[in-house]
Amino acid sequence: MTAQLNARGDVAVLVPAAGAGVRLGPGGPKALRLLAGEPLLVHAVRRVAAAPSVRMIVVAAPAADVEAVSELLTPITPVSVVAGGAERQESVGRALAVVPADVPIVLVHDAARALTPPDLIESVASAVRAGRPAVIPTLPVVDTIKEASPEGLVLGTVDRSVLRSVQTPQGFQHQVLAAAHAAASDPLTDDAGLAEKAGIPVTCVLGSELALKITRPLDLVIAEALLAHGPF
Ligand code: CTP
Ligand code: MG
Repeated sequence: MTAQLNARGDVAVLVPAAGAGVRLGPGGPKALRLLAGEPLLVHAVRRVAAAPSVRMIVVAAPAADVEAVSELLTPITPVSVVAGGAERQESVGRALAVVPADVPIVLVHDAARALTPPDLIESVASAVRAGRPAVIPTLPVVDTIKEASPEGLVLGTVDRSVLRSVQTPQGFQHQVLAAAHAAASDPLTDDAGLAEKAGIPVTCVLGSELALKITRPLDLVIAEALLAHGPF
């Protein structure tokens, strides 16, 4: 039996949280690293649980930390915890496997995007509910982007106006995500990429600067500052 949050919700949120956090430097799995005194995963899950459409949350934890993560999150919200895999895609696949077939919408949301507002979760879910098979939150790219050779010689300037920076949660009709994962061969870093490969149209909605992915040490500093300054 999977833990339920809001029986009337139509969304399952998978939270891959099994990564090592190599780019953040030494200090254990990233999802368990502290931000303003609490693990990143707690920040992320608390915001997911605050989105009214969410019926269930499935966290893919580092294999050695499944029990610890259950104990950490249970006081906050009902949650199912599975052991993640070596690649993000495998972690998502294992979490997806425990979602009952009668949940129509599945979102995949990085634990590392710990400050993602519940509103963004609702906006992705509602675009799927409105009939889009796959939905991703995106932001315009701010830097000028150049293509360069391995030696560092500039080959050209890319037209920035057609580019989008992609965030999570990424939302899918349940059967679309299940089929895309079943057909997957090479591991990708996002789930919409699997849908694209399967020929599924992917729709962009406006993302949020608060959904930044905590990847490098500076990102932790930014996230701490955001928490200190805003009602986030
Ligand atoms: N993730 C996962 N299982 C993996 C790898 C990543 O569940 N085998 C999760 C991470 O925990 C994170 C999300 O996927 O919430 C996005 O990955 P990323 O930001 O790359 O996190 P890490 O893989 O932990 O970081 P790094 O690549 O620096 O090691
Ligand atoms: Mg990674």
